[in-house]
This record gives sequence, structure tokens and C-alpha cells, in this order.
Amino acid sequence: MKELVLGIETSCDDTAAAVVTPDGEVLSSIIVSQEEIHSKFGGVFPELAGRAHVLSIIPAIEKALSESGITPKDIHSIGVTRGPGLVGSLLVGLHTASGLGMGWDKPVIGINHLRGHLRSADLGEKRVEYPAMVLLVSGGHTFLAHMKSAVDIDVLSSTRDDSVGECYDKVSRMLGLGYPGGPVVDRTAKTGEATIPFPRPMLQKGLEFSFSGLKSAVSRYLQFLEEPPNVENIAASFVESVMEILITKTRRAMLKYPCTSLVVVGGVAASPQLREQAQNLCDEMGAKLCLPPIKWSTDNAAMIALATWDYINLGVFPAAQPALGLPMNEL
Ligand code: KG4
Ligand code: ZN
Repeated sequence: MKELVLGIETSCDDTAAAVVTPDGEVLSSIIVSQEEIHSKFGGVFPELAGRAHVLSIIPAIEKALSESGITPKDIHSIGVTRGPGLVGSLLVGLHTASGLGMGWDKPVIGINHLRGHLRSADLGEKRVEYPAMVLLVSGGHTFLAHMKSAVDIDVLSSTRDDSVGECYDKVSRMLGLGYPGGPVVDRTAKTGEATIPFPRPMLQKGLEFSFSGLKSAVSRYLQFLEEPPNVENIAASFVESVMEILITKTRRAMLKYPCTSLVVVGGVAASPQLREQAQNLCDEMGAKLCLPPIKWSTDNAAMIALATWDYINLGVFPAAQPALGLPMNEL
């Protein structure tokens, strides 16, 4: 039996546990979604998220162990998300990991959730060739990073306001399409035409992102509309604007920093439109596109376990304590 890491992820609204080998082979990956609980609020309700994690975490870990056919003695270490995230959610994962670590006599390592996303493109098989440009697009964050290796990471930009996932979710709510917004807005966009010239904030220069203006533009458009909204065309116009922003900034970064591959990770990396446009960009730039399988684009514990192996290999053991506002460059 190979040495194994048990990963635990509870930063937001998915309770996840996974067992992963040092090469990123995923022996099991359990994700208990809370979509049903939060959908009626149009977003994550933090207190309910924490409560749901309490109920799901032990069954999720038990299932991860049984599906991978291992017992606690096969585990080398436990890796658990320490932040950024919702405090009540993070504490459930962190306390569970600490208790198990003590009971099983295993080291417990605190992992930055964003580092997990950055490493998700190597889950299942090694895809990333370095140096790599990374576009991270999730519900909480949007940034570009340059990776010289799996552990040598320079964050190049961030968003001045909202993340792109947040923008998707809010636009979805405005259009009455439900939560989470990304998948349904993408699907709706496919049947519409991009007829509305929504803005592309901060497109002309720099690597920084801004999405609140785009969100407000959709809201104002709906507010002053005199006829019933054409939801398909609004979604298509919104997605076109988002794609142009993401691809333009990524192209600019790839022209500035040497890179063999482009890595696109985070929940919005599940978008078929983004996957297609990122492939076109890579064809244009002569780079290799590295994407995690869709099931590991959104939050999961396998990516946390793989990031744990990086720390084990470096001999660095960040404490399994909450780090709510982890600075971006402290990956
Ligand atoms: O990475 P993630 O699961 O959680 C965070 O760390 O935030 O990302 C969640 C975000 C949500 O905003 C969701 O709407 C978005 O990812 N998302 C998508 C798609 N699937 C999920 N956005 C666009 N297209 C999708 N297919
Ligand atoms: Zn995430």
C-alpha cells in the first residue's frame, strides 16, 4: 500500500473528504453538496453551512476511507483547509482533522484553499508543465499567478471588488435563474445572442480584474427595461463580456511572463465557454492547456490532499488553525 493523505475541505458549502497518493492519484473523493439548503436564499447562508458540515463531515470521511479500501493506519498525514473561507465552516473541518490526528497519531497540516485550487490541474494525472500561467476563477477569488514549479508561485493580480463567480451568481439571481449561478447562466447563454453591449471593466491595461461594474450594468439594464427581459440574450451578453475580460487579461500575462502551459482552475473553470476560449488562446500562444476534470474544478478535498503532499515533500507543516483572511501571496 502506498502512503496516503486524507484531505478535508469545508471552507464554504461543500463537505468534502478524499484519499490521494503522492502522485495525485485519487483513490476516493466524496463531496456532500449543500446546494439544496442554500438555493432558496440565492446564496450561501453561513450559519446553515456550518451546521450542515457538522452533520456531514464524519460520514464523508468514513465514506472516503471505505471507498478507497483503506484504514486509518494507511494514512501518512491529514491535510485540511485552514482558509480563506467562512469561519463556522472552516472550524468544523479543522476541529475534525485535529481530533482525528490526535486519535490516530497522524500529523495534521493546514492548507490554503487557493493553493488547493492551483494544484487541482494535476489531479488524476500530471498535466502541468512549468513555467505555467494560472487563471484562478472561483466564487471567492479571481487572479492570475505565475508558477515556476508546484511550490514556487507568484500571484500577479487580484480583483478590485467581486470575483467572477460571485458576479455569475448575482446575475443569475437577477435573472431568476437560481443558485449556484455559473452552470445555469452558461446553459442559458448558449441559447441566446450577445446583443447587449455590457461593459468590460479595466480591459485596456493591467492584470487586475474588476467585476462589480459589470454586475451593476446588468442590474441597471433590467431596472430600465420596458419590455419583459430576454433572459437568454442577457445571459449570452454577460458571458461574452466575462470571457473577453478573462481571456484578454490572461493573454496579456502570457505575453509578459514565460509559460509553457496555461492552467485554468476554480469553480468557473467548469464553464464550457471558458474551456473553449482558453483552448483557442493556447492554440494562439503555442501553450498547453491544463484543466482539472470538471468534477475537481469546484470545491473538493482531493485538491487539498495534493497540496498537502507539496508541504510534506518540502518538510513544512503549516498549523491546522483558522486563517480567515489569508493574504493571497501566502499560499
Ligand atoms: O471554486 P468554487 O467551487 O468555490 C469557491 O472556492 O468559491 O467556485 C464556486 C463558483 C460559483 O460562483 C459558481 O457559480 C461557479 O463557481 N461555477 C461556474 C460553473 N460552475 C460553477 N461558473 C461558470 N460556469 C460554470 N459551469
Ligand atoms: Zn474554492
